Amino acid sequence: MKIAQFSRIGFIMAAAGSAVGLGNIWKFPYMTGEYGGGAFVLVYLITITFIGFSVMIAEMLIGSLGRKDTVGSFEELAPPNKKGWKYAGFMGFNGLIIMTFYSVVIGWIFYYLFEIFSGLPTSTDMAKETFDNLVANEAGIQLFWHTVATIIVTYIVYRGIKGGIEKINLILMPALMLILFGMLIYAFNLDGFSKAFSFMFAPDWSKLNSEAIVRAVGHSFFTLSLGMGAIMTYAASLPKHTSITQTAFIVTFMDTLIALVAGLVIYTFLFTEGAPPSQGPGLVFISLPVVLSNFGTVGTVLALLFFLALSFAGLTSAVSLVEPVVQYIIDRFNQSRFKAVLIAGSAYYLIGVGALLSYTKDYGNIFSIGGKPLFDLLEYTTDSILLPLGGLLIAIFVGYILQKERVYSVLKNEMGKRYFDIWLFSIRYIAPLALLFMMLNLMGILKI
Ligand code: PFF
Ligand code: NA
Repeated sequence: MKIAQFSRIGFIMAAAGSAVGLGNIWKFPYMTGEYGGGAFVLVYLITITFIGFSVMIAEMLIGSLGRKDTVGSFEELAPPNKKGWKYAGFMGFNGLIIMTFYSVVIGWIFYYLFEIFSGLPTSTDMAKETFDNLVANEAGIQLFWHTVATIIVTYIVYRGIKGGIEKINLILMPALMLILFGMLIYAFNLDGFSKAFSFMFAPDWSKLNSEAIVRAVGHSFFTLSLGMGAIMTYAASLPKHTSITQTAFIVTFMDTLIALVAGLVIYTFLFTEGAPPSQGPGLVFISLPVVLSNFGTVGTVLALLFFLALSFAGLTSAVSLVEPVVQYIIDRFNQSRFKAVLIAGSAYYLIGVGALLSYTKDYGNIFSIGGKPLFDLLEYTTDSILLPLGGLLIAIFVGYILQKERVYSVLKNEMGKRYFDIWLFSIRYIAPLALLFMMLNLMGILKI
């Protein structure tokens, strides 16, 4: 099966679209608030630079040399006596697990986009009530928006790499950046800006604990879309003669920049109104709307633009979560793209229904295991176990297993010997150790 090719800019936008997601605009800002600001940001920046960036290069390398679905690419590149490595390619299925709850959250964002027109909540109690009510009582409304999100995402994927994924990213990514940078310029003139800036960039080391470090490492993988074959699958369509190193750098840079800008914008709004930074996952759904309600009509416009940007970010990531499995079904079982999308889409859609019901009052019990809602279990499993495991397998495969002569020449040419040695050191030692340490810690086996 011949895989279609991106254009160079199309690939950059698609990979950046995958990376820039709810992780940047929703998760990163609230995690920064929860873990105390600057110190967390610094750990995050360090892991992105020394681990995330290296692993992204490794993932792109596997995809661009293998030129197949994730399973096929591992199989293709493994030496003859180590073909069992193809099973590592099943990391592509992590995407569907992430999609179960990612789609539900995109649904919330859609709901908010429409709710904004009926006015922003003017008090935290009101905002909390709206959000809590949606999640706990409105199974039908959530189901509706989860369905809308699924239809949009699966339709884009159905249209394929060129006609769907590349096209949508070439439109939505520039639009998203325009909105966010416009908001940054607006925020720059507000009172809270300097406070937001020092909150995010002046580290308060007393706030840094082991949990914050582990979460920063984990988030650096999630935010760069690493460890589940999304970047790998896109890279199978990388146009020939494109520098992997350079492309990985641009994507990593864009993802980081957008997270920082989103954080600055949100905290400027919050601090301008004197709201506290640690709000948890409700930050953009509860605190932000209330704060913006104080800005009058401008606030409504800002809220609309913000949730629009959030939905763009979510959609462009979602398509990259579905594509690996779709590619796998097409390649392995010789199915049409339509059938592949139908199978992959139904799978995550149905489990997603369970995830959204697990937060409701009426059905929460049925969709919980050991008192934990399915939603949380799915998120925990991917974030803390499957993505780091995927990252670990990628690092070990590229660092130790890959047929070296065939592969390293590509990167040596691109990087020069000196940087290549640094990259290899990161892939062989730093990344595996950091990931292993993080997994053991999160599973409660190794405590620091
Ligand atoms: N990178 C996305 C975000 O920051 O929201 C989430 C994600 C997308 C993770 C695709 C993994 C992935 F393969
Ligand atoms: Na991201």
